[in-house]
Amino acid sequence: MSELWVERHRPRSVSEMKGQKAVVDRLKAYSESRTFPHLMFAGPPGTGKTTAALALTRDVFGEGFRSNILEMNASDERKLESIRTKVKQFARTAPMPGTTFKVIFLDEADALTPDAQGALRRIMEQFAETCRFILSCNYSSKIVEAIQSRCAVFRFRPLNTEKVLEKVIEVASSEGVDLEQEAAQAIAKVSLGDLRKAITSLQVAASLDLHVTRELVYETTATAPPEELHGFFLACKEDGFQPARRRMRGILDRFGLAGTDLVNQLHRELGGLRSWTRRRNSP
Ligand SMILES: Nc1ncnc2c1ncn2[C@@H]1O[C@H](COP(=O)(O)OP(=O)(O)O)[C@@H](O)[C@H]1O
Ligand SMILES: [Mg+2]
Repeated sequence: MSELWVERHRPRSVSEMKGQKAVVDRLKAYSESRTFPHLMFAGPPGTGKTTAALALTRDVFGEGFRSNILEMNASDERKLESIRTKVKQFARTAPMPGTTFKVIFLDEADALTPDAQGALRRIMEQFAETCRFILSCNYSSKIVEAIQSRCAVFRFRPLNTEKVLEKVIEVASSEGVDLEQEAAQAIAKVSLGDLRKAITSLQVAASLDLHVTRELVYETTATAPPEELHGFFLACKEDGFQPARRRMRGILDRFGLAGTDLVNQLHRELGGLRSWTRRRNSP
């Protein structure tokens, strides 16, 4: 695995992003006007928040955009003081020729305590003339109101199966992976709308065998295939305690699951289960 496929296949322009239509439409308008306010991107992992921040900056500033953006991870920067110092240094130099502002991308802003967020708000104000902030977080409710009200807030959603399939199939074909249709479906199912997880699952499976099958996907993602989970439900209903327990132990061993993984997977499967009959070869 020389380069991570998630990085290699990160969309370079907001127009190449999958799904997130409401977000993408608004960001395209910013690219056209070549300016934007402070932004806040909220949503679960692997849905395109970092991608959108980088792609928007590239769309607005062109290829040299890297010199105009400072990327920081709020959960790495121990003290807000180090954020302030970095922002100060960065803000001191002039923006790229032909532009009027620089961009500060602060990932995982919800890792900051409310006090630190208060200090961040003051930094945002202090540098508002020369810098735009893009904050990303999983939950917007963990960001203090004073910051939210200064940002245009964008909500990112888990991608639907169709979009995950599109992306996974694109990546597979550009990487020369022979991806079975059912394997693509399985990747979409295990990734739960998280494209980072989907692309990583593809890369891990393909690193073992360029011919990626459904079985390989389930083996390499520590996920029990649906028919195994259904079999367990049936055993609980019809076979009694001891046989059901044996089956559970078998599943844990074979797919390398922790007990909590199995509980989560059973819970998800139960939600989507339409009948108690045996189903074969579903994704
Ligand atoms: N909406 C999307 N469209 C296309 N690719 C995406 C999208 N969201 C995520 N990805 C892929 O998944 C990877 C991780 O996405 P990223 O933007 O870093 O997620 P996060 O929301 O956690 O910041 C990207 O490198 C890209 O390959
Ligand atoms: Mg991110």
